[in-house]
Amino acid sequence: MGFRRELKPNIYSVGAVDWDRRLFDELILLPDGTSYNAYLVKGSEKTALIDTVDPTMTDVLLKNLEELEVEDINYVVANHAEQDHSGSIPQVLEVYTSAKVVCTPKCKAMLKDLLVIPEDKFITVKDGETLSLGDKTLEFIHAPWVHWPETMLTYLKEDKILFTCDFLGSHLATSDLFVTDKATVYEAAKRYYAEIMMPFRITIRKNMEKTKNLAIAIIAPSHGPIHNKPDFILDAYRDWASDDVKNEVIVPYISMHGSTKKMVDYFVEALIERGITVRQFNLSETDIGKLAMALVDAATIVIGSPTVLVGPHPKVIYAACLANALRPKLKFASIIGSYGWGGRMVEQLAGMIPNLKVEILDPVVIKGVPKEDDFKALDRLADEIADKHKEYDILN
Ligand code: FEO
Repeated sequence: MGFRRELKPNIYSVGAVDWDRRLFDELILLPDGTSYNAYLVKGSEKTALIDTVDPTMTDVLLKNLEELEVEDINYVVANHAEQDHSGSIPQVLEVYTSAKVVCTPKCKAMLKDLLVIPEDKFITVKDGETLSLGDKTLEFIHAPWVHWPETMLTYLKEDKILFTCDFLGSHLATSDLFVTDKATVYEAAKRYYAEIMMPFRITIRKNMEKTKNLAIAIIAPSHGPIHNKPDFILDAYRDWASDDVKNEVIVPYISMHGSTKKMVDYFVEALIERGITVRQFNLSETDIGKLAMALVDAATIVIGSPTVLVGPHPKVIYAACLANALRPKLKFASIIGSYGWGGRMVEQLAGMIPNLKVEILDPVVIKGVPKEDDFKALDRLADEIADKHKEYDILN
């Protein structure tokens, strides 16, 4: 579906909505589809296209440009080299032969690697550099690591529009040009932050600091609807990227013969009794994006696993690797679970989460089904977590 609409006079959304896409990077679930937003900015003298679309939808972009009767594009601004935004640049350059690709020096190197664009097609820009389109001016703001090293933002000065590509975006297919259903967009944006941006929480804060003095009327990302009330998404990012944690314990677990499940059920109840919010995820069927979202705010993670071939269950290993890679702001972690005859489940699992800057609380790992002393040990762990949350002043 095309997305050819006017944001403001001479500024158009010309990207594509991908209602059917359900997987990104062969890893990330897209329950709500996505969009690849591209923007056309027509100045009195020059015209710029800001980002393109995923190569599967090049024809939609080109049709949108054709229907707007765009005869000439002078600049194709590549805010980000990842192919869902850059992948149609070669085809755009074939149609608009005089266009130059405007990007950071790092992005140029990556685009040459990924798309084999000739050297003479590039204009690289420094941080803070501007480009005049006549009555409109683009300012380029280098913003590395949202979420690749080459990323930049483009600010359209006269109209106060910040084009942010992935940053502040959401995987959400919608017919709305601007945010209307805030709850839905919040959910999609949080999922996007959790899966894509969370590992770069600290650089996100630096990049937000860098843009804080810009007058921003509109934030136009390259996924999801456009924000014409920018504080909504900026406030959400400030919260997610802050060091503040909530009184929440995440319990991802799996159970093979029911012992770990009995422990988890008892433990979750014990936490709730102590005034703690719990989010429990059975990893045999969990949407891993939901788990990532829960990790955005939680203070504590307690992983539940049986022992398989002397180590954690493979699905627990997957979840632990993912949590480690996403680098959430967790403060505490522990492990609960059961074994049949022995193993090194705790040591192996603890070794898989070096990126989590957490205090490890004494695990509760038992032999066979849980018995009276084992339930007492779970109560002891629940008490310890409640005490830690109290120290952080987050206990309800
Ligand atoms: Fe939407 Fe990093 O690409």
